[in-house]
Amino acid sequence: VRGVFVTGTDTGVGKTYLAGALVAALRARGLRVGAAKPVLTGLDEPGPHDHQLLGATTAATFGPPVSPHLAAELAGVELEPAALVGAAREATRDADAVVVEGVGGLLVPLTREYSVRDLAVELGLPVVVAARPGLGTLNHTLLTLEAARAGGLDVRAVVLTPWPAQPGTMERSNLETLGAAAPTFVLAQGGDAAALPVERWLG
Ligand SMILES: Nc1ncnc2c1ncn2[C@@H]1O[C@H](COP(=O)(O)OP(=O)(O)OP(=O)(O)O)[C@@H](O)[C@H]1O
Ligand SMILES: [Mg+2]
Repeated sequence: VRGVFVTGTDTGVGKTYLAGALVAALRARGLRVGAAKPVLTGLDEPGPHDHQLLGATTAATFGPPVSPHLAAELAGVELEPAALVGAAREATRDADAVVVEGVGGLLVPLTREYSVRDLAVELGLPVVVAARPGLGTLNHTLLTLEAARAGGLDVRAVVLTPWPAQPGTMERSNLETLGAAAPTFVLAQGGDAAALPVERWLG
């Protein structure tokens, strides 16, 4: 099954919004699409939560809004990489394509020895990076691209979200600067991914 792994430069940068837009855009093109959020933390916070928004399979959910490795330790359980991979595989059932949302960014520990990047590598999926359009995004995004490529991941796109209706000099410059490092696109506030080349992002 073809698919894409949605990561981000940080927590709260639009991974779920982007993943949802990808699912919708691929479905609009006639594909059957499954979604996975292998680990979710922060179930204690008000929802809706990522797996609910995406209709995603999960291997583990935890209440505290902390890194998965800590949430698992606090719950006294050990996250099994094989189970995380299994949640993504489950989402491929009866599907032509799968969209997998990571947790935080690429170097977030899922266990003390296994990162989000390791999961993306094991799934063999190319990566799309959700990033902020404004101040701070150059460092965060370029670091993410380095980390992705150092791990052998194929970065298909960076998506700046939410792209302002009236981008200023800085946002337009960020788009150009990041475009020199990876194919970079924008997603408007409340916008959809219909105009983005989403099928090309599937591995
Ligand atoms: N293009 C957009 N249009 C409207 N809202 C957006 C857009 N991009 C991001 N957002 C909003 O920004 C907030 C953070 O986005 P989101 O929840 O997708 O981030 P995340 O990276 O998945 O966070 P987490 O690390 O908690 O999984 C959400 O309220 C989301 O709806
Ligand atoms: Mg999310």
